[in-house]
Amino acid sequence: MLRSPILHRTAIVILITMHSSIAASDPPKANYDEQQVPAYSLPELLIDSSGRRMETPHDWQVRRRPEILKLFESHVYGRSPRPPKLEFELKSEASDALEGSAIRKEVAIHLLPRASGVVLNLLLYLPKSERPAPVFLGLNFWGNQSIHADQAITLTDAWTRNDKELGIENNRANEATRACESERWQVEQVLKRGFGVATMYYGDIDPDFDDGFTNGVHSLYPQTAGEQREPDAWGSIAAWAWGLSRAMDYLETDPLVDSKRVAVWGHSRLGKTALWAAAQDNRFALAISNNSGCGGAALSRRLFGETVERINTNFPHWFCRNFRQYNGKEGELPVDQHMLVALIAPRPVYIASAAEDLWADPRGEFLAAKAAAPVYELLLGAGSAGLPEDMPPIDKSVGERIGYHIRTGKHDVTAYDWQQYLNFADRHLTDNK
Ligand code: GCU
Repeated sequence: MLRSPILHRTAIVILITMHSSIAASDPPKANYDEQQVPAYSLPELLIDSSGRRMETPHDWQVRRRPEILKLFESHVYGRSPRPPKLEFELKSEASDALEGSAIRKEVAIHLLPRASGVVLNLLLYLPKSERPAPVFLGLNFWGNQSIHADQAITLTDAWTRNDKELGIENNRANEATRACESERWQVEQVLKRGFGVATMYYGDIDPDFDDGFTNGVHSLYPQTAGEQREPDAWGSIAAWAWGLSRAMDYLETDPLVDSKRVAVWGHSRLGKTALWAAAQDNRFALAISNNSGCGGAALSRRLFGETVERINTNFPHWFCRNFRQYNGKEGELPVDQHMLVALIAPRPVYIASAAEDLWADPRGEFLAAKAAAPVYELLLGAGSAGLPEDMPPIDKSVGERIGYHIRTGKHDVTAYDWQQYLNFADRHLTDNK
């Protein structure tokens, strides 16, 4: 076929124009070079907005902590509304699940009025025990059926992301998604150690795409969408964290669960979520961030791997609108992520990185953990965080009240991660009864 030189040239010009317009709006390339990390100073944890130094636990709890919580609400995740009334409906219960070793429950958490149609489906596996069980609560990425091969788990009918590998084409989960994340959940191992597992699909709370905040739990609060949406209105991470608190509302009512010993955990975007949930809701006794990275445990000011601009560009619905002011201006943020970790104090928190997960900035995660330590020390005494001066070697778990490891391998949740979490929970989620 003869190609018209004019058309051809036009096409090139269009291509060049398109390319340069993409390049112009694209955030700068990610930095993976430690030498390129800019000099920065972190906002003070223990000096309040009036310049006063926090000297006592009371100072922290009453003055500085509420200020920092508010700063994260206003500038990062957005303000979450008060929950509506809830109704809990036991959908199924089996006392002989997993070859007779566990109790399985499925509970629908209805957000009232029921006509709203918003239902959070909680799945629970509990060890057979005389005592109420401590529980690991976390959100999952593909529906409750993704965490275990147990055929009795109801397949979610909610919107899911399409995925070639899983054969999801119409935004609905299929049978292939059963157990697709079982490695990440290690249900048997957790039960064997005497803990229960509780999970919900994050898309039940808010489907993970930018729809202008009209679906999921956002739909219950139309004033936080559209024209009226305030620059500090909640984004999706805040909604997912809010959903974890609704799961906790249920767990408090279940006599088989020791709700004073609930660890909230999450991987990646759901690790960011777990930290924000624990920061806001003191009922979570322990928090675990698995490879949470930017907007999670990693310091934003290091500009290593994912940056504020990158995350706001790729995921415009995750944070509040105010957070965009800090695209390329991380130094102007009134907070950094060490303060998010500190909000969890004095409760134990574990931060886990993976050596190949440079996008999430492992060193930035360790440094945030380290920089949060002064609050633990103020509340619990010198040495209570227990972190070493420098990053530990790979595959070595360190820390007391703040736990940390960087393991071999990529962005994921592995059996090794779980062993550390279970050991950490054994140490800290003690049964005082
Ligand atoms: C992307 C995103 C990260 C996030 C991750 C995930 O990589 O940039 O911020 O943690 O997805 O949730 O899997």
